Amino acid sequence: MRINNYKKEAMNLNKIIYALAISVLLFNCSSNSNDDLNPDPDPDPNGKITYEANVKNIINSNCAQCHDSTPINGAPFSLVTYTQVKDRIDAILSRINSVSSPMPPSGQMPSSNRDLIQQWKDDGLLEN
Ligand code: HEC
Repeated sequence: MRINNYKKEAMNLNKIIYALAISVLLFNCSSNSNDDLNPDPDPDPNGKITYEANVKNIINSNCAQCHDSTPINGAPFSLVTYTQVKDRIDAILSRINSVSSPMPPSGQMPSSNRDLIQQWKDDGLLEN
């Protein structure tokens, strides 16, 4: 008789543990879906922005016609290699976002390009 009561209690305990486990699972699922309400502004949330994959093309097509390996049109320095761009990141960010004297001088690039260069800095100025 006693042994049977112990068995019953053990089974009830199992049910409680099972129910707890399910509520933990449900809670995790619902808190994951809450994350979708606050989308990450990172343009590439699955990976980090790198010079070779993301930044080089933007600089080549928007800056290199003046900041070439031999700078022309009055540009004070080259922006052709990874090191040249990385070493001047703060001046670059300030001028590409400047309203009164933007780089390129013809006018600000789309914000997608500018955000990507900012994110490159935030990700640690990776080359590859
Ligand atoms: C049409 C030519 C031209 C293009 C294109 C151009 N620049 Fe310049 N850049 C200049 C000239 C000229 C100067 C020097 C005068 C000045 O500071 O406005 C300069 C200066 C700069 C400076 C120096 C700011 C300082 O005071 O140290 C930075 C940084 C810069 N450019 C970044 C860029 C970047 C980044 C791009 C591309 C997104 C770019 N430039 C595109 C001509 C250009």
